[in-house]
Amino acid sequence: MCGIVGYVGESPISPILLDGLRRLEYRGYDSAGLAVLTDEGVAIRRAAGKLRTLEELVEREPIEGNVGIGHTRWATHGRPSEENAHPHVSGDVAVVHNGIIENHTELRREVRESGLELRSETDTELVAHLIALELAKGCDLREALLRTLGRLKGSYAIAAISPRVPGKIFVARANSPLVLGLGDGENYCASDVPALLPYTREMIFLEDGDLAVVEAERVSIFNLRGEEVERTLRRIDWSPSMAEKAGYKHFMLKEIFEQPRALEDTLRGRLNRAEGKIFGDEIGLSDETIRGINRVLFLACGTSLHASIAGRYWVEALAKIPAQAELASEFRGRDPIILPGDLVVVVSQSGETIDTLLAARLAKEKGATIVAIANVIDSAIPRLADAAFYTHAGPEIGVASTKCFTAQLANIFMLALHLGNVRGAISPERSAAFVEALAKLPQKMHETLLASRQLASSLAKRTRDAQDVLFLGRGLSFPIALEAALKLKEVSYIHAEGYAAGELKHGPMALLDELLPVFVILPRDEQRERTLSNLEEVKARDARVVAVATRGDEETLEKVEDLLDIPEVEPELSPFLTILPLQLFAYYVADFKGTDVDQPRNLAKTVTVE
Ligand code: F6R
Repeated sequence: MCGIVGYVGESPISPILLDGLRRLEYRGYDSAGLAVLTDEGVAIRRAAGKLRTLEELVEREPIEGNVGIGHTRWATHGRPSEENAHPHVSGDVAVVHNGIIENHTELRREVRESGLELRSETDTELVAHLIALELAKGCDLREALLRTLGRLKGSYAIAAISPRVPGKIFVARANSPLVLGLGDGENYCASDVPALLPYTREMIFLEDGDLAVVEAERVSIFNLRGEEVERTLRRIDWSPSMAEKAGYKHFMLKEIFEQPRALEDTLRGRLNRAEGKIFGDEIGLSDETIRGINRVLFLACGTSLHASIAGRYWVEALAKIPAQAELASEFRGRDPIILPGDLVVVVSQSGETIDTLLAARLAKEKGATIVAIANVIDSAIPRLADAAFYTHAGPEIGVASTKCFTAQLANIFMLALHLGNVRGAISPERSAAFVEALAKLPQKMHETLLASRQLASSLAKRTRDAQDVLFLGRGLSFPIALEAALKLKEVSYIHAEGYAAGELKHGPMALLDELLPVFVILPRDEQRERTLSNLEEVKARDARVVAVATRGDEETLEKVEDLLDIPEVEPELSPFLTILPLQLFAYYVADFKGTDVDQPRNLAKTVTVE
């Protein structure tokens, strides 16, 4: 939510800041701004709307300097407007901020009483004023920032500059991501890796409570007590082109088609084909711990929760361990019970979703062993976990998650298989068959995408005016129904619901009429017969039915006008394929409707506010 970028060095500054913001626009996109230190002081440019408006402003009114910060906003406090756009200035200090300051009411009162004028509705402006008030007491900027941070409750990633300390950016984080990029005679900071990929791959991920001073020749990191601390330097292997559209109209379409590659990268080095098992070292659990697991609890939000629901089925089927998947936000809304032998698997593409992070923290405090499945290395959730089992999907830029969903499915399936093998819950033959089937999946995904592209597009054309769409599935197709509905809602703004097909008679059937498109997901598995009966029930109520089924399923084909088919695959692996035509369908509906596919209204990629 919101993006921050900062640069200190000799290169022309506006293009670097604007390029960084363009690469972060997926994190927030209702207004944007820059602050640069010039000979006259701090120069500010801010504009409401998409980044393009700010770019045009900077073309008309250029700014140059060697130190600058930029921000792209996703409104939390205060509507999208120029006054509420960052940077916010108090005295000679300019500040940008991601996150939410929870004690803003009390701080606002204090700032007002001090006689300072409030020009925006944001909590960020309060941070700028608090720093200015501390500076007025005579301390330096680092000390003023430290004292201000001590007053803030909530989450933040902050960057501040002032002409009183030329050549320096001050940054700090708590529950909101912030990374430093190291160059040659120049250094950077950003809220997310893609902003910095064209400039450097040497990065330092700050930890909660860190305050860093970024200068052209060095970076220094301190804790909240002001003591200097060391943080690990990482080399990121994502390439800048991974964060480009590569000729596709939208990132979402590119990322849908990237899935075979993302899956291959995620499986690489993890399939022990010689022994028909998974190389489980990265999962970070000893065999003894695995044998002692009594329950697996998945915690996640949104798309990551849907991957986790598939995980519940797999852990039960392959490892014979009771499993649950829970919404992270609800888990932390109660006093959940964690028992000895609980393994908590926290699934998050960004590794920074605040509800998931806080749920993981709560589970850890209650004594659970935590395994994180994340795509962004060294992000907050894997850092907190006992072990990090990363997906290797590459940067996901489209706000609607696609390639990270199937990569998460892969890690979760490998985890379940590994648990099953260590506990002897699965036969060596069955395990080996799954390992071989996993190795063949990228090719099958590729085939599915190519084969369904045309029909998904023509169905989308016919469905773009629908008011509502229903997706039905049983067993492993239930989370796919949920995920398909979420994808359609997000990018096309059409109301959609995913239902367990068995629930149809318990209410949703009242919705059926000739105007309602219903997608029934029924790959060849042991649920198929029952789902086919549900399909008949839907047809009998005149609804328009589309099936997602296995190629050659003549019985289903006879019953529907349109069938999106997937190649023959082990029933347990069908989610990797059934989701693909439905992602394409959601994409094409959105594209026909002309919505902002990669940056849907009101959404942001990484949800760092509760
Ligand atoms: C949907 C989507 C969101 C995320 C959710 C969790 O397309 O992207 O529902 O899945 O915000 O995000 P992560 O996985 O980063 O924790």
